[in-house]
Amino acid sequence: MGKHIFLIGFMGCGKSYWGHLLAERLNRPFVDLDALIETREGKLIADIFGSEGEDAFRIIERNTLHVLEQMTASIVAVGGGTPCFFDNLVWMKTHGKVFYLKTPVAELCRRLKDQRAHRPLLAQMQDDDLQLFIETLLYKRAPFYELADVILENTERQDDLFMAKMERAVAGA
Ligand code: S3P
Repeated sequence: MGKHIFLIGFMGCGKSYWGHLLAERLNRPFVDLDALIETREGKLIADIFGSEGEDAFRIIERNTLHVLEQMTASIVAVGGGTPCFFDNLVWMKTHGKVFYLKTPVAELCRRLKDQRAHRPLLAQMQDDDLQLFIETLLYKRAPFYELADVILENTERQDDLFMAKMERAVAGA
């Protein structure tokens, strides 16, 4: 099977948003790992966390990631935690190229403030605690993210500039 392009990064960095657009541009299928998990399990991610807990979710997540081995080369948006558990990052690097969408903390906070409901790790978080939570979790996860094949800093003011940056990076990877 062909090589995938994996988009990794913190919740709210735009993996699904950019993944969709990139897939359209490159005429490749788009896969959202969270959506694939929900389809295969017949449950929302939040319900899996709620009924089975995070450890069980991480096992399901890894098993679902491995399903991609049988799929044609796609653009794949994985979950914010995916590269940080088991050997998922090495697996992704073996089965494709990994791109880290690096986004400033302030921007993550701004976006995640309004997107807490369907994210089990954030659902109970109060406004005042959100920034510290994001900074702390990002501090733990950044060492994994930074091992990506390509780091794409999303500091562009315009979407089309970032898209062009992504396309150049994919062509050169
Ligand atoms: C998670 C991120 C979520 C989802 C789950 C856990 C995380 O995906 O996989 O809620 O651990 O960061 P997004 O990054 O697409 O929100």
